[in-house]
Amino acid sequence: MPAKVDMDKIVSLCKRRGLIFPSSEIYGGLASCWDYGPMGVELKRNVKEAWWKVVVHERDDVVGLDTSIMMHPGVWAASGHIDNFTDPLVECKSCHLRWRADAIEGQRCPQCSGELTEPRMFNLMFKTFMGPVEEEASLVYLRPETAQGIFVNFENVVTTSRKKLPLGIAQIGKSFRNEITTGNFIFRTREFEHMELEYFVKPGTDKEWLDYWVKERFDWYVKLGIRKENLRLRQHGKDELAHYAKDCYDIDYLFPMGWSELEGIANRGDFDLTQHAKCSGKELSYYDAEAGEKYVPYVIEPSAGVDRSVLAFLIDAYEEEEIEGEKRTVLHLHPSLAPIKVAVLPLSRNEKLTPLAKEVFKQLCPSFVTDYDDSQSIGRRYRRQDEIGTPFCVTIDFESLEDKQVTIRERDSLAQIRVPIGELNKVIEAKLKGEAFDASTLWATREK
Ligand code: GAP
Repeated sequence: MPAKVDMDKIVSLCKRRGLIFPSSEIYGGLASCWDYGPMGVELKRNVKEAWWKVVVHERDDVVGLDTSIMMHPGVWAASGHIDNFTDPLVECKSCHLRWRADAIEGQRCPQCSGELTEPRMFNLMFKTFMGPVEEEASLVYLRPETAQGIFVNFENVVTTSRKKLPLGIAQIGKSFRNEITTGNFIFRTREFEHMELEYFVKPGTDKEWLDYWVKERFDWYVKLGIRKENLRLRQHGKDELAHYAKDCYDIDYLFPMGWSELEGIANRGDFDLTQHAKCSGKELSYYDAEAGEKYVPYVIEPSAGVDRSVLAFLIDAYEEEEIEGEKRTVLHLHPSLAPIKVAVLPLSRNEKLTPLAKEVFKQLCPSFVTDYDDSQSIGRRYRRQDEIGTPFCVTIDFESLEDKQVTIRERDSLAQIRVPIGELNKVIEAKLKGEAFDASTLWATREK
């Protein structure tokens, strides 16, 4: 099934509208590094907030954590990342390009058909030195997953939160992987953000909790607007499971380059707590007062990429359509993800309209992320807001000076309703929550 939009169109929209820029662009950029612009930072924050809201705030069995990026090197020996977090690397003997052996087809270089070297295992963790001396003893790694910060704090969190199992600990933060091949915009980069939940359960209940979290996470994307037909579940074969996993499902999305992983939900068993207990010498078990027994919990881990989610939301929301003979590009983003919720647009930069328009802006901005734009024609300003997915535009015209009413235009249907300024916040709030965009309520009258 062909994907509906080229990645080039998404990259170009992101650059044009201040969503995502190439990193260090004035120096020619840095491979696979990207910067989130004024609109991108809002979108990314909204994705993280939407995750935190349902995974942490709306539950009484999950708490949050924010751990350091650099950790004791012993953590990575215990977790198996020093020995196992590797990809097979081959190099072309002619053009010297490097490839992940398991990601290319055939035995020759995909670039020039040259002969390839034998594969060697390449560790994906970035190394650096802590302190002024660059020696083996001061070697530290940038974390390749946020999960280990959670495992090594298991005891701290259980003791201080006074929660019983099942208990989840959630974290959002940067991870780093020295990927051999990157690409497809922000899909695979060397620096990215993880949204990870480690959900600790009693052994024997792990299978049912894995099923539970697979469904929860799949539904999260659908609730936030991703079309079901663009998502699929895929169970890992035994040969592709990570070194720590007993079982794993990927939620795949139909990206422009084909079906690719969006999120992984793994059953990590008791691998991590057992390893850390063994290597640190600290007991990491749980006393279950109800069952009157002590055990090492099993862990179910939904692990999502923030950047990859942002990309999927952008692609799924993107549409080009023709309105009265004119092309319109629109992002049908879910209102909770849209960078700007409402734009205030005076019909023109007329000195009579400006004070009222500014007043409306001031009234809205403490409650909603609001944009004010009075440059260029109203049509162009609508298009600009459509391209960044702003759900509502509020227009102030000369009639507004008389009747103290403004027009709200809805992004997807292009329908317009006229609303008293005094009711505006209430109306926008209701519409953002999904109330039908019509004049069914008393204060609104539909525009012709
Ligand atoms: N703690 C488990 C873990 O990290 P993973 O499958 O390696 O599992 C989880 O990563 C998610 O993190 C992926 O599904 C993807 O969304 C994101 N991710 C992983 N590597 C990435 C990279 N190089 N660039 C962007 N996102 C990445």
